[in-house]
Order: sequence, then structure tokens, then C-alpha cells
Amino acid sequence: MGRRDGDAVALRRVSRRYGTVYALDEVSLSFPRGSFTAVMGPSGSGKSTLLQCAAGLDRPTSGSVTVGGTELTGALDSRTGHEVLTLLRAMVDRERQTVVMVTHDPVAASRADRVVFLVDGRLHGELTGAGADAVAARMTGLETVPC
Ligand SMILES: Nc1ncnc2c1ncn2[C@@H]1O[C@H](COP(=O)(O)OP(=O)(O)O)[C@@H](O)[C@H]1O
Ligand SMILES: [Mg+2]
Repeated sequence: MGRRDGDAVALRRVSRRYGTVYALDEVSLSFPRGSFTAVMGPSGSGKSTLLQCAAGLDRPTSGSVTVGGTELTGALDSRTGHEVLTLLRAMVDRERQTVVMVTHDPVAASRADRVVFLVDGRLHGELTGAGADAVAARMTGLETVPC
């Protein structure tokens, strides 16, 4: 299957539990490339949790999420974090996709073209083309910004 075919995102038996509540319960669903899907359901049915898990913004309790065929679940905390960052970089460079990533990791951030910094709900500058050391130095500086 070519890279432009198949699923952009696939969830397989994804569950997300908050305490005793299952926000998602064994959801298997895929989003083919170039498709436009509406997710509907009553309030509390899991719509937001589904999107957050599909986007890698929330972590399933169990199950798997793949983006462009690359396993995302837990990947940024593991040795395969490199694989996910390489995938994101390729999506931008080869396919002109737009990627916004939230991270605490200066090494991961340095794979982006631009790093924007937030402090107390306000933008606090940005770096373009910065290496991990420069990003880390700026982060250290932000932690000492006076209130
Ligand atoms: N951060 C959270 N902590 C505890 N329970 C949550 C949290 N987020 C969602 N839930 C619960 O998960 C279920 C699904 O919520 P949600 O995904 O926000 O549904 P929807 O977007 O369809 O309204 C609800 O029962 C909600 O109360
Ligand atoms: Mg919602």
C-alpha cells in the first residue's frame, strides 16, 4: 500500500478509563487519508476523548493508535519516540502537512521548525531553527520569569 493510501489514523480497541468511568470502551475506528468524518453522540459519550486519543493528545488506557502506520501509543516516552518525530518531520517536509506538537522535551522540540513559548497563558517569544541546547536554555529561563 502506498504512503498516500490507507489510513491517516487508526484506533484499535482503544479504551480510556477515568477512575471507574470508561470514556472510551474498546473503540476500533480508522480515518482514511483524505476523508472527512463527523463524530456525533450525546454529551459525555466520549467524542472529545476520541479526538484527543486520535491526535496523540491523550493516552489510551489500553489499545493502539497509529498515525500513518506508525504506532503512537506511548511512543513519545519510549525509544520509538525517534520514529514518531521522524514521521512528523516527513509529513511536513514531503507532504506539506501542518504539525503542532506540545512537548516538554527540548530534543523533540528541536525537530520542529519553530518553538513558541507560553507562560501563564501568554505568548513569551519563540525560537526558529533552534537546537536542543538553545531550547533547553530558554525553558530554564522561562521557569524564572517574574510573576
Ligand atoms: N479528565 C477527565 N476526568 C474524568 N472524567 C472525564 C475526563 N474527561 C472526560 N471524562 C468523562 O469521560 C466521559 C466522556 O467524556 P467526553 O469525551 O468529554 O465526552 P463528550 O466530548 O462526548 O461530551 C464522560 O463521562 C466524562 O465525564
Ligand atoms: Mg466534548
